[in-house]
Order: sequence, then structure tokens, then C-alpha cells
Amino acid sequence: MPMKPKLVDAFNIQIQAEFQSAYTYLGMAAWFAEQNLPGFAQWMRVQWQEETMHAMKLYDFLHNRGESVSLRPLAAPVKKYTSAVQVFEQVRKHELAITASINALYELALKEKDLPAQIVLQWFINEQVEEEALVVEIIERLKLVGSDGPSVYLLDRQMATRPAPVSGAQA
Ligand code: FEO
Repeated sequence: MPMKPKLVDAFNIQIQAEFQSAYTYLGMAAWFAEQNLPGFAQWMRVQWQEETMHAMKLYDFLHNRGESVSLRPLAAPVKKYTSAVQVFEQVRKHELAITASINALYELALKEKDLPAQIVLQWFINEQVEEEALVVEIIERLKLVGSDGPSVYLLDRQMATRPAPVSGAQA
């Protein structure tokens, strides 16, 4: 069954938002690498992969429904940060905005009575709960260690252990 054009447009906008998230986190990965925090840089590279996977999940969904993917332009990431906490506060803010856009997309899928769209978006709704919790946990840890060098070093090593996403675009 074809999707309503309004819903296809909204999915394409969400694909852009997910790729924009990926690009933003890649910019943060570069910033961390330049601060000699390779573990945080690695964590952000994994986040970049995660977001790319999110975008591709929506991209594949549109194609599976026989609809067209229209890729939109991305903005250059901001790379001026003052601290690791500030970076993760930005991540939190960004993820809250993504949650709001996923929720609005789900509301639209409900309104258009598109059941497959609702089901794929439920995965994203759960994912946002996990992402928000994870970011809050990291902010708390960063606040706890403060500027204590050895603790920052240990936390950086711990951040490096984040595994890469399991199975590319189809996960
Ligand atoms: Fe794809 Fe971090 O939301």
C-alpha cells in the first residue's frame, strides 16, 4: 500500500535529521581526538555509525514501501566546545529534539493510519529512551570526575570500549 505523500516527506526529513546527527557526532569525535581524548573520540565514532544506521533504516523502509528517498543537504557541525561536559550537554539537547521529531512523525503515522510506519517508528521511540538515558549517565560521570586527570584518563579508556553497532544498515 503506498504511503501518503505527506508522510513520505516527513520520513525524508527524518532521514536528513539522522544523517545530520551522524555528521554532528563525527564533528564531536574530531574535537575529542584533538583534545587527546581518544576514548571519547571512539565513542563518538560509534555514535556516528549508530546514527547512520538510523538514517539507513528509514531509507530502506521508504524503498521497501516503493517510495522515493530524497536526500537533503547537511550543515557543517559546530566544532567549538569548551569541555567534554559541554559536548554531552549538546548531545542531550540534540537527542531531545530528535525525540520530539520522532514523536511527531509517529503522530502523523497514526493520523494517516499507516500501520507499517507506526511499527518501524516504535523501534525509534524505544531507541530514543535508551539514547537519552545513556547520555544522562555520561554527563553524570563527567561531572563526578570533574577535572581530576587520572579519573578523566580512566573514563576515557572506558569510553573506548563501546562496541560498534551490530549489523550495519539493517539493524
Ligand atoms: Fe538517531 Fe540519536 O537519534
